[in-house]
Amino acid sequence: MKPSCDASSAGGASAIPRSPSSAAGKLLLAPSGPDDENLLVPYTQDWTHKWKAPQCPAVLQPRTTGQVAGLLRHCYERDLHVVPQGGNTGLVGGGIPLANEVILSLANMNQIISFDAASGILVCEAGCVLEELDAWLRPYGYIMPLDLGAKGSCQIGGNVSTNAGGLRFLRYGSLHGSVLGLEVVLADGRVLDMLSTLRKDNTGLDLKQIFIGAEGTLGVITKVSLQVPPAPAAVQVALVGLESFEKVREMVMLSKRKLGEILSAMELVDAAAMDVVVGKAAWGLRNPLAGGSGANSPFPFYMLLETSGSGEAHDREKMEELLETALDGGVVGDGTVAQDLAQAQEIWKLRELIPVAMEEEGRVHKFDVSLPLSAFYALVERTREALEEGGVVMGEGGGVRVVGYGHLGDSNLHLNVSVPREAPDPPEVSRVVSRVLPWVMEHKGSVSAEHGLGQLKKAYLPQTKSKEVVGVMRGMKKMLDPKGILNPGKFFPDDA
Ligand code: FAD
Ligand code: MLT
Ligand code: ZN
Repeated sequence: MKPSCDASSAGGASAIPRSPSSAAGKLLLAPSGPDDENLLVPYTQDWTHKWKAPQCPAVLQPRTTGQVAGLLRHCYERDLHVVPQGGNTGLVGGGIPLANEVILSLANMNQIISFDAASGILVCEAGCVLEELDAWLRPYGYIMPLDLGAKGSCQIGGNVSTNAGGLRFLRYGSLHGSVLGLEVVLADGRVLDMLSTLRKDNTGLDLKQIFIGAEGTLGVITKVSLQVPPAPAAVQVALVGLESFEKVREMVMLSKRKLGEILSAMELVDAAAMDVVVGKAAWGLRNPLAGGSGANSPFPFYMLLETSGSGEAHDREKMEELLETALDGGVVGDGTVAQDLAQAQEIWKLRELIPVAMEEEGRVHKFDVSLPLSAFYALVERTREALEEGGVVMGEGGGVRVVGYGHLGDSNLHLNVSVPREAPDPPEVSRVVSRVLPWVMEHKGSVSAEHGLGQLKKAYLPQTKSKEVVGVMRGMKKMLDPKGILNPGKFFPDDA
């Protein structure tokens, strides 16, 4: 059974990554002449164009666990290094070779194995594309427990390997909870069958957990078993405009109090992020709180609120009541509730397309951090101020742009600083961006909330975890992959 492919993109912009389909079906991709020059590019270069494999002899595309095991055994015996790859939408360079590693793509392992419509337990191969799984489940009255802008291309194996968070995390929690079982092939070709379909199983250590978020360093995930939630019967989406971050914090508390268990998303979009998305004329998006004028954002902050419940009238009433209270109490300056699915999708696009819009702006320094709400937006303000004080030209038309957005309900901020693509960073920009993560650490945040470490942030592992903790992590790597053939140079710092 193969998942259907008719899911429509929630984003609507063609720039949202979609799976490369031309190469699917072949077991091995290797350039055999100048005509094949670009054959491997979808695998050897990442979505942001920040990372490019200097050399990659081949992309392996096995179709079965047995083939993955055979290939890894072969590589292990010959000390050949391997980079596991899903949809190649990762944002920290984890799936791109550093030297001459071969890529092991899971793209051909895209079959659904079983689905139990009574319990909502799905078992599938690791290469299934997230959006296709979601579309396949909907006729049965279920959805995937995670959703992200890269859904049209990222694979469930990649999602599990990065422990991806995304837009539904607030409601359905981490993959550490939704994943019931995994099948993993170790570096030497041994297959670990941990593909449980049980919600409860306290027999021994819950070994699968160490592969969730291991970024392909401990083994190759070949199959996944997941608890998927029922599709909500009623979804409400609202956008509110707020005058300060203090008001945003008030609205977070009020929304939790008023919406309780039906609250399913609470996202932040700052004015600069809103302007950059609305400014993409070709996308035809408008800020529904901007009145007729449209060009510049009338509010410094926006919150996207979503409820997912079972009673349309009840949930709508609750959302409208929240907005009324927030407006009357001066917590929000304005707000709108989507009247139909099309309007709800339009509002979601304003949030989901921010990373795509920023990529069009230039080369982006992306920060994905967790911070207590008390320090959350101060990071964005501080970054902007430091750049301005340093004389950096900000704003549209070749300047540097600083935008803040993210999963407010999970205290997960995305700070993006875009610089003109062609030129190297001015020294002042380098200085300011180099201070972002140390500031996060000083404020007891996480330097990697949901995207992982990959190449980009591996140096931070020993700076944020104790010597003993990193020692145990290294010990696990050594035990499972003693020759270090899986995803070398990622996740762990170079001082090993
Ligand atoms: P890849 O990019 O191919 O790989 C990522 C890592 O996992 C690599 O280290 C790779 O070696 C490893 N890996 C992949 N497959 C396997 C496997 N089967 N076995 C072992 N290791 C494997 N992330 C979020 O958390 N939340 C978001 O909201 C979010 N939004 C995004 C929006 C956009 C537009 C983009 C481009 C990215 C976004 N991401 C987000 C980044 C996110 O990490 C990925 O999109 C996704 O989880 C990675 O899946 P992938 O299949 O593309 O993996
Ligand atoms: C998001 O929330 O949009 C993603 O994590 C991608 C990004 O940070 O740009
Ligand atoms: Zn995110």
